[in-house]
Amino acid sequence: MAWNAERWRDEVAALFTLNRVEVDGYRYTRPAPSTYEHQWLWDSCFHAIILRHIDPEMAWDELRAISARPLVSGSDAGMLPHMQYWRGGGEGLWGVDSHSIITQPPLIAIAAQLVWQIAPDEQVLRTIYPTVAAFHTWFARRRDVEGDGLVCLIHPWESGWDASPRWDAPMGLSVLPSDDEARSARLALAATLQERDTDPRTARAEGRFCVIPADFNAVRIADLDALTWMAGQIGSSADAARWAAEARMSRDAFRRRLIRDGLPVDLDVTRGEVLAVETAGQFVTLFGGVLEQSEAEAIAARLEHVEWSPRWRVPTSPVNQPQYAGDRYWRGNVWVNVNWMIWAGLRRYGLIEQADALALQTAELVETEGWHEYFDPMTGAGHGSHPHSWTALALDMLAVSAGGLG
Ligand code: GLC
Repeated sequence: MAWNAERWRDEVAALFTLNRVEVDGYRYTRPAPSTYEHQWLWDSCFHAIILRHIDPEMAWDELRAISARPLVSGSDAGMLPHMQYWRGGGEGLWGVDSHSIITQPPLIAIAAQLVWQIAPDEQVLRTIYPTVAAFHTWFARRRDVEGDGLVCLIHPWESGWDASPRWDAPMGLSVLPSDDEARSARLALAATLQERDTDPRTARAEGRFCVIPADFNAVRIADLDALTWMAGQIGSSADAARWAAEARMSRDAFRRRLIRDGLPVDLDVTRGEVLAVETAGQFVTLFGGVLEQSEAEAIAARLEHVEWSPRWRVPTSPVNQPQYAGDRYWRGNVWVNVNWMIWAGLRRYGLIEQADALALQTAELVETEGWHEYFDPMTGAGHGSHPHSWTALALDMLAVSAGGLG
């Protein structure tokens, strides 16, 4: 397939202009019109990574906006919420109008480092650094229940993989829940968090959702690496040493607790067991650089297995799993942000051929089907919102991968 770099850039620029929001002196990109009007944490990080290719100033603005409103008081002070309601609207779900009371995967430092590669801006780095540092301090204080460097989640929404089959058991759902059942359970849990509290220790004691996902922790470790870089960049070597030590501790704990028989696993803290449902989260762990080269190669080899190789990759659940449903939200569909993390992970381990192939196939999928939120791995059919902003990560994959854009 031949790429028309100019046209891709124009299309992505148009998509981001359409989804741009300006409010209170800040600018951010909503994930999609109507379905997702607010600002989401990990979406904005992905947006910055895309925007570095088309409008670096906007890329920094995106990171400035997502770092502007951390929680400043209460037991979750320092947390960056997974949703910012800049114009209000959160009251019903969260009991607060301006933000949610849970978080999402931390990728701000990673995004800042990637934007910096194209358009260094020390002033913005200095502006956002204290917030990102406080965010990681919050993770350690509030979500590291064992004090060993691994962090837990108290709602499936925090993982970003809202309806993944891996959350069915810890949500107390049946093996094959309907979408309505699963959604009601997520809404009920949000209400409980609002009524009770957001302390994972309470969640565990009360038998609620409390999990330690391998992919989330790998992403956090990668963000700690990038935070180490950030601290060094702004001249704080003491901070840099602190983040490097935290990343080391988390890596050790990851290796001790989240790798079983060479494969990354998610833990159910409440029930004290490993989650049995396999997902593509295992491939995302490549992104965190927590694996030995031989382990990474073994995991990358699994990507070629038949259950992970339908026409379009990467399905978020293996296609031979009973829970798999290519057209149901997070129950096996292809998501471009997940592909991006797997691709970056493959590159991290020097598995360039596999990474390039994934970049090209992702771009082909988007080129053929459009800027959808997620795709059916068998047919390629697009689902969910449209045009969805982070689907443009295909542009970053193409721009960076050998033989890609231009
Ligand atoms: C959905 C996704 C979540 C994302 C949000 C906005 O809720 O599951 O990961 O952040 O949409 O795109």
